[in-house]
Amino acid sequence: MNYAQVSRRDFLKGVGVTAAAAALPVSVVELAFADETQNFTFAYISDAHIQHIKGTQFVRNWDRGLIRAVAETNILNPKPDFVVFGGDLAQLGTKEELDHGAEIMSALKHKTHYVMGEHDYYLDLGEYWSKLFGPHYHSFDHKGVHFVILNSILTFDDWTFNRWPTDTQRMLEMAGLDNPNGSPFMVGEKQRKWLAEDLAKVDRKTPVVVFSHSPIQKLYKGWNFWTEDAEEVQALLQPFETPTVIYGHVHQIQYNQIGRIAFQSVMATAWPWPYPQSYAQAEHDMPKLTVPMNRADPFFERDATGWQTIDVGAGRVSLSYNLYNNKSRRVGFNFEKGHPEDSEYQDPAKRIAPQDHF
Ligand SMILES: [Fe+2]
Ligand SMILES: [Fe+2]
Repeated sequence: MNYAQVSRRDFLKGVGVTAAAAALPVSVVELAFADETQNFTFAYISDAHIQHIKGTQFVRNWDRGLIRAVAETNILNPKPDFVVFGGDLAQLGTKEELDHGAEIMSALKHKTHYVMGEHDYYLDLGEYWSKLFGPHYHSFDHKGVHFVILNSILTFDDWTFNRWPTDTQRMLEMAGLDNPNGSPFMVGEKQRKWLAEDLAKVDRKTPVVVFSHSPIQKLYKGWNFWTEDAEEVQALLQPFETPTVIYGHVHQIQYNQIGRIAFQSVMATAWPWPYPQSYAQAEHDMPKLTVPMNRADPFFERDATGWQTIDVGAGRVSLSYNLYNNKSRRVGFNFEKGHPEDSEYQDPAKRIAPQDHF
């Protein structure tokens, strides 16, 4: 396949996605191959943070963000082949929150794969989540692509098992964004061994797409935008021709390229995290960001939230971010430059000013 073919097909698809995006705050992922019959899209919803108050009461704002994403995913045209939920379905991992989140998600008409978030995990170490949604990590093949779901929010055993008087205390400590009592995320030795064995069966030319909750990169430790064993996991992916990692957790648009691995994040349906004042605060590999999100507008409860559709072209993904109260964005793989970039705003002359709210 040559670049012109990919560009043309991506462009045509982009038109369709953009038209849909004008009406829909959705993230669509689309995968396009030389063989047109292999093209497909999937939708990605993440970070709903369903939060129980008491009795039958839940935080309305977070409920609404997820309900909207589910409703909009159901009317996507073309229909996505499947949906991924990227983790943090619950806020504090309780049965009430996970049940309520599962009930909202049950309205989806599509098969859904679930990724574990730290907010789902640290109360009972994923036990109840697993009853609802299945294994903590697994892989599957779909139309020539090998998909891997990792549980990337594990941490050191000593922190998990020996430090906290109660499970609730452990959950609260890991739920804080900039809490110094938290602990860096990791995939862990056991799962890395499983991943190595899983990938050993896959041809190096096969597109591999990994779904994780934390970035499989070291971006910003202060907010746990971090995976302690990122380099070890990356080393397992680098031998492939077109590996991609799609992650949640950061509640903001990020994209990056390390060696052959393309990285792209997804938005939250609950709330946005601002970019750290500058990623220069921490050592990072992040390329230049395009449109910084400052504080969300407090008068628009869905500001800077949304979901995405994803397409895969020549084994690379393009994410269309459907943002509820912001201009939609599209970040796709630039085959000439060899990394993902914003289709509209990467050129500094075309940037839009950061939001400025009071
Ligand atoms: Fe989250
Ligand atoms: Fe998270």
